[in-house]
Amino acid sequence: MNNADLVAYAARLPKAELHLHLEGSLEPEQMFAFAKRNKVDIPFRSVEEIRAAYNFSNLQDFLDIYYQGMSVLKTEEDFFDLTVAYLNRVRADNVRHVEVFFDPQGHTERGVSFDTAASGILTALSLAKAQFGMTASLIMCFLRHLPEDEAMETLRQAEPWLDRIIGVGLDSSEVGHPPSKFERVFKAAKERGLKCVAHAGEEGPHEYVYEALDVLQIDRLDHGNRSLEDDALVKRLAQQEMTLTVCPLSNLKLCVVDDMRAHPIKKMLDLGLRATVNSDDPSYFGGYVMDNFEAVIEAVDLDKEDIKTLAKNSFLGSFLSEGEKRAQLSAIDFIT
Ligand code: ADE
Ligand code: ZN
Repeated sequence: MNNADLVAYAARLPKAELHLHLEGSLEPEQMFAFAKRNKVDIPFRSVEEIRAAYNFSNLQDFLDIYYQGMSVLKTEEDFFDLTVAYLNRVRADNVRHVEVFFDPQGHTERGVSFDTAASGILTALSLAKAQFGMTASLIMCFLRHLPEDEAMETLRQAEPWLDRIIGVGLDSSEVGHPPSKFERVFKAAKERGLKCVAHAGEEGPHEYVYEALDVLQIDRLDHGNRSLEDDALVKRLAQQEMTLTVCPLSNLKLCVVDDMRAHPIKKMLDLGLRATVNSDDPSYFGGYVMDNFEAVIEAVDLDKEDIKTLAKNSFLGSFLSEGEKRAQLSAIDFIT
């Protein structure tokens, strides 16, 4: 198959997205609309000016602008509209299941309640199921640059919502904020029956991946690129069938890789790692799930089996029931 055929094949396959920050799906046009209706000042005069600011040399560069961007989100309706826009967009990419992140502390620290954000998002997720049969789960992330006590307080605020939240995650500035800083709050989350995921080995060293596995007892690894620096870790991740939520365009934009041709997605598959393709923060990094498939298909030598494996991995690595996984996997087998 040539690259165009591989892209078309990837587009036809049912897929799940497992690494998506809803706040990172805020498109510049929406940023303007929300700023206007909520009377929030933003330091940009046009959509072009916003896009021009999306030039990052590392994770922190991006996070500074990401937290500023989310300041336009104020009401339940904003969170609802943001989520609906994302779900509609990925539906066009044949995404059938999503497990999305949100950053409650990015909102509570500026006076928007946990309930406001959670309610708007969850209403949109239920609507997607009712209207077009897309299944969706919500993961709340703790901001790792903040103290663990504040993460604990966030878990308390989440208490009334926990039957509708599938898990907890860990994101924001990685270096200097190892997973072990959040041992207690992840233990408390596990005790409440929540799944645990964490960003690790994106910018931070592979030792953080060991900590995420051993201290946080994660069920899934977000990014994990730097695991490749340690052979024993790769072997362990492969043996444990740990899913890695890899985000190619994000890796390029945040200089985790210098060139898409050097992206390790193929290498990960060849090493037996359960890698998946995700968009992370699509509005900031230049694209949604299919844009990410397209970018790696163009740059790296993936074949049809690899594409099929990536799509299957997205369901295998999800928190769907075994029955739901089986149904999605057999649907993939039917597509040529
Ligand atoms: N928050 C949103 N996107 C992120 C990323 N790629 N890494 C860490 N924190 C994030
Ligand atoms: Zn992320």
